[in-house]
Amino acid sequence: MKIFYNKTELSDHIDALKANDNTIGFVPTMGALHNGHLSLVNKGLSENDIIVVSIFVNPTQFDNQDDLVKYPRTLEADVALLKTVSDKTIIVYAPTVEDIYGDNIKSQSFTFDGLEHEMEGAFRDGHFDGVGTIVKRLLEIVKPDNAYFGEKDFQQLQIIKKLAELNHIPVKIIGCKIHRAEDGLAMSSRNTRLTPEHRTIAPFIYKTLKTAKTKFGTKSAKYVTEWVEKQFKKQPLLELEYFIIADIATLKPAKRKSTKKSYRAFIAVYAGDIRLIDNIALN
Ligand code: PAJ
Repeated sequence: MKIFYNKTELSDHIDALKANDNTIGFVPTMGALHNGHLSLVNKGLSENDIIVVSIFVNPTQFDNQDDLVKYPRTLEADVALLKTVSDKTIIVYAPTVEDIYGDNIKSQSFTFDGLEHEMEGAFRDGHFDGVGTIVKRLLEIVKPDNAYFGEKDFQQLQIIKKLAELNHIPVKIIGCKIHRAEDGLAMSSRNTRLTPEHRTIAPFIYKTLKTAKTKFGTKSAKYVTEWVEKQFKKQPLLELEYFIIADIATLKPAKRKSTKKSYRAFIAVYAGDIRLIDNIALN
């Protein structure tokens, strides 16, 4: 498997592949790869000749320094896992912070038609400026035909679509379904940091989302939101940060239900000091 640590060498290699008519798919990640990431890689492989997987813990998108320091870094295991999928048609780009940022580790400031102010944008200061900065830079380096993002981070997916549109980046942004553990917990690199006790209780999040979806069939967004908040109050090991039913186009909280709009329920929960997010399509 080819691994690049340097953007110029990667670009040169990709240019040569493109000159030979290979289509390039791109899966940006922060590593600590799991089956959720692999589902993106596999979808990418079914639609492109070559997949570039970037592995880079992007410092500018962390609002919490402790989370950045403790974020798992497991490059060797990540490469071994990718090799089980395909040795020849996957390329890894694992840059240093310097290769990406030089000596200026700063975010660019973005607007994404207001998408950046909702939910994760409201609770994680500067997060989407950091995500926008790194994804724009990576798309400029890799120049893929298609790029794959998980619905696990649905707001991020919508923001990246907006980033590509507003900046005229010639790439197709493709959303991929949420990959879950058997007990329903959405797979996440942060799950490995849960205590056994928190890991056991964490599937409560998706279970509650599923019931919320059923209730939303007949009840208002306000009713369902209050019901969810009540369930978490009864659950001492999990602390609800937000539960929001939002219109998927604007990500603004649903006020009055409209049959013409699509809604999703979004949730952020602390299990100890680990922050978990999830979401579910409602209609
Ligand atoms: P990371 O959390 O590593 O996720 C990389 C990609 O995998 C994202 O598109 C994310 O939505 C997707 N993903 C993670 N868990 C998933 C799951 N259980 N099911 C489906 N997809 C899943 O998201 C980031 O990194 C970063 O913000 C990044 C885009 C790489 C920019 O730094």
